Amino acid sequence: MNNEVNVWLEQVFEFLGKELSLLENELKKRLLSFTENRIDLYNVFNYFFEIRGKRLRPILVLLSAGLARELRSKLNGKTSKTNETEIELAAALELIHNSSLIHDDIVDESSHRRGQVTLNHRFNNKVAVLAGDLLFSHAFLIMNKLEQPKISAILTETVEKMCQSEINEIISPFTNFEQYIAHLNAKTASLMSACCKSGAILAGADEKTVLALGEFGTNFGIAYQLMDDYLDDEQPKNFEVNLLLQAKIYCEKAKKNLKNFKNNEYKKLLLSLLQYVSDKPYLKLKESQENIT
Ligand code: FPP
Ligand code: MG
Repeated sequence: MNNEVNVWLEQVFEFLGKELSLLENELKKRLLSFTENRIDLYNVFNYFFEIRGKRLRPILVLLSAGLARELRSKLNGKTSKTNETEIELAAALELIHNSSLIHDDIVDESSHRRGQVTLNHRFNNKVAVLAGDLLFSHAFLIMNKLEQPKISAILTETVEKMCQSEINEIISPFTNFEQYIAHLNAKTASLMSACCKSGAILAGADEKTVLALGEFGTNFGIAYQLMDDYLDDEQPKNFEVNLLLQAKIYCEKAKKNLKNFKNNEYKKLLLSLLQYVSDKPYLKLKESQENIT
């Protein structure tokens, strides 16, 4: 099991077991399609998929879509299940995320990710930058197939925001708390928010629901990145900030974003994701104790 997984995330994996396995099939199918069955090209990407992450972005798509479907079925009395397009959207968002990580590893000159050698180190920057571009364009191919203009606008604007913020951070790094939060929002939270909004839109949610889930994604994403910075000891240099406290504050904000939704399994699991973030320090402590004993 991935050592970053705790009980809260386990619950989500269990509930979405079928959908997440459909997602893996979809990603494999996509991998074969864009590498055109060429083994050399396939190996470049297969290696990246093998060091799979937690699939948090697809999870946000699927839970938000599920929550929106539940709301609709309460209104019109019809129940519906996760459909193929939700899995495709989830795959597109995972591809965008992975392409951003490949590009990030080039920018940061990182040699390892998730305990594995990065693409830029295993091959070189030329291969890695183009591999990132390929994943990225394939994601947009999937997105176009959905024929959902609102979702297309959200995803393109999000990627634009991510790139702008990364460039900005290189040429004029943040110097105060507000700029820092804006950067975390742009680089991490905006994509998570896009996952929630697009999942909800695809499931036919009304504007109020899309807005609330989008806000949830933003606050969850900021909390997630604050906790990551805390655990990686990446304390900002030019100003004081209590990263752990701020992470908890943003988790609380995210919780509030869901307060108007009636209780159901999807809402419960979105709240579990917040618990997962909050409990990360205990997980790390437990791991380090297990390594000592
Ligand atoms: C990780 O940050 C980086 C990101 C979450 C986003 C990076 C975004 C880009 C490079 C813009 C390009 C985007 C696309 C879609 C092509 P980190 O370095 O703090 O975290 P790490 O420890 O995971 O590397
Ligand atoms: Mg990095």
